Amino acid sequence: MADYVLEVKNVDKVYGQDETEVYALRNLSFSVKRGEFMLIVGSSGSGKSTLLNMIGLLDRPTRGKVIIDGVDTSVLNDNQLSSFRNSKLGFIFQSSNLLSDLTVLENVTLPRKIQGSMQNAVEESKSLLKTVGLESQMHKFGNQISGGQAQRVAITRALVNKPAVVLADEPTGNLDSVSAEATIQLLKSLNRKLYQTFIIVTHDRHQFSEVDKVVTIKDGRIVKEEMEASLI
Ligand SMILES: Nc1ncnc2c1ncn2[C@@H]1O[C@H](COP(=O)(O)OP(=O)(O)OP(=O)(O)O)[C@@H](O)[C@H]1O
Ligand SMILES: [Mg+2]
Repeated sequence: MADYVLEVKNVDKVYGQDETEVYALRNLSFSVKRGEFMLIVGSSGSGKSTLLNMIGLLDRPTRGKVIIDGVDTSVLNDNQLSSFRNSKLGFIFQSSNLLSDLTVLENVTLPRKIQGSMQNAVEESKSLLKTVGLESQMHKFGNQISGGQAQRVAITRALVNKPAVVLADEPTGNLDSVSAEATIQLLKSLNRKLYQTFIIVTHDRHQFSEVDKVVTIKDGRIVKEEMEASLI
């Protein structure tokens, strides 16, 4: 097993060309160990979502490499990249993006269906829903639950493929402060219980306490990398 679950090596991302050229990321490098809880912080436009898109294999770097679970993803073709993404990564967005014509349980099992690995998928989904306290809601439709509950379903859905890394872009951005706090506590407890690696983009690092790593970016560059010890 690789020492690092994620290695970002000398990544540049340039959008547009000539007069429209924007350097969204410049020579970014960092590594993440299995089971770490990491935050990416920075002001609006600093490059956080661009970086998450590179790590999430939703877009390719202009230069540099993203290595996930020891695999250099730059050598994968588009088909290989999609299937690698589906098996190795989980995504949580600002809005839960649940399908309203599927039940909560069906929403959670969907990534397994797409992956073609339905064996034990229903049992494992039910068990995860129990872990996040939504056992009683699993037969409701996606649009019949609260925003905070929907985000917990989205978190469960991101975990069902047992991904190497779960990525979240402002996962509490659409929630009231009570639901936001509950969501953060849930992510932290899943991190401890399942030894699940999380990388979370946030505007408000102070919502989170006791994280393993904080990378601050400004104008597409890392300006600070803090480890656990310096955060306590
Ligand atoms: N598809 C794109 N085409 C051109 N420029 C882009 C594109 N996406 C992002 N950018 C630019 O890249 C820079 C970084 O954007 P990014 O979305 O990564 O910022 P962010 O840190 O996520 O900001 P926010 O906190 O507002 O979400 C910005 O200057 C933005 O305008
Ligand atoms: Mg963003």
